[in-house]
Amino acid sequence: MDKWNIDKLPSQQGKVAIVTGANSGIGYQTTIGLVKKNFEVIMACRNMQKAEEVKVKILRKHPRANIKLMLLDLSKLADVRKFADDFKIHYNKLDLLLNNAGIMMSPYKVTQDGFENQLATNYIGHFALTGLLLPLLISTPKSRIVNLSSLSFKWAKINFDDLHGLKGYSKRTAYGQSKRACLIFAFELNKRLASANYSTISVAAHPGLAKTNLDQYFPSLIRPLGSLFLQPAEIGALPVLYAALSDDIKGGEFVGPDGFQQLRGYPTLVEADEYTNDEEVAKNLWQVSEEMTDVFYLDELGRKRTNS
Ligand SMILES: NC(=O)c1ccc[n+]([C@@H]2O[C@H](COP(=O)([O-])OP(=O)(O)OC[C@H]3O[C@@H](n4cnc5c(N)ncnc54)[C@H](OP(=O)(O)O)[C@@H]3O)[C@@H](O)[C@H]2O)c1
Repeated sequence: MDKWNIDKLPSQQGKVAIVTGANSGIGYQTTIGLVKKNFEVIMACRNMQKAEEVKVKILRKHPRANIKLMLLDLSKLADVRKFADDFKIHYNKLDLLLNNAGIMMSPYKVTQDGFENQLATNYIGHFALTGLLLPLLISTPKSRIVNLSSLSFKWAKINFDDLHGLKGYSKRTAYGQSKRACLIFAFELNKRLASANYSTISVAAHPGLAKTNLDQYFPSLIRPLGSLFLQPAEIGALPVLYAALSDDIKGGEFVGPDGFQQLRGYPTLVEADEYTNDEEVAKNLWQVSEEMTDVFYLDELGRKRTNS
């Protein structure tokens, strides 16, 4: 898999992708990769002005790029529902859902739905979005869901007794928990899709350490140091593109960089850990996520199971 890049991949003309947080960093670079392969890309962003500027920038270099902008704030369940409703009005298929948007180590904040903001943005919003779009995904042959995790999944387990940091908030632990949740979700979703015999797969990816705007909550004195040792976002996006596009990928796999400690490099398959693969933890997380979002996947996954 040495020096994997998208150049040799075939055109994906006719395919539709949603990229959340497509206006910056990994999402922006992934969007460029997808438009180069002729995907129609829906940039799902919370700030339309930023998204419009990025769209113009991409079109300047790739004039034939098929890009649409849609408003989505993942920290608000009402927004997620509206996005999914609007999407389903305009599209009858979805080949790729790239759950990319995220924030890191932000100050304590409770969202309008009553959730801790990092968990809400990075995980809960994507859980709801995926569930609401599931009917389209499973009716699109061989569709894929790619979930962004991070090496920092190792920073925390899922604190079921205090998911939202009410008893004490550590921004580092909260980020780790949210990225752990994304990883558990990616694997558990794939298991449920496979047991219902759908061709849709769910996979996870992490970019190692890449210079993006993710460090916006770091002290301003530290931020410039990042560019000295972090890999460029263009390389950080490769594991994500590999997870999204490679024919070698199977559902339930995890892709990261192949370099030292997975901090940088080209795409390779990586391992999670025992806790992430714990069936009881996954079951509990799924149940509490359905309750928090009021998005119940059983309709789609259950109906197919009983019919088959
Ligand atoms: N960079 C790394 O080294 C690294 C390492 C491990 C994992 N990751 C993961 O990679 C993903 C992308 O991060 P990045 O590094 O590319 O950071 P980034 O440059 O800050 O991009 C994050 C994107 O998410 C969007 N976003 C944030 N909150 C949102 C919300 N409530 N609703 C909708 N969109 C929202 C941002 O929009 P605005 O521009 O409007 O803020 C931006 O488009 C994240 O999931 C992150 O956890 C990154």
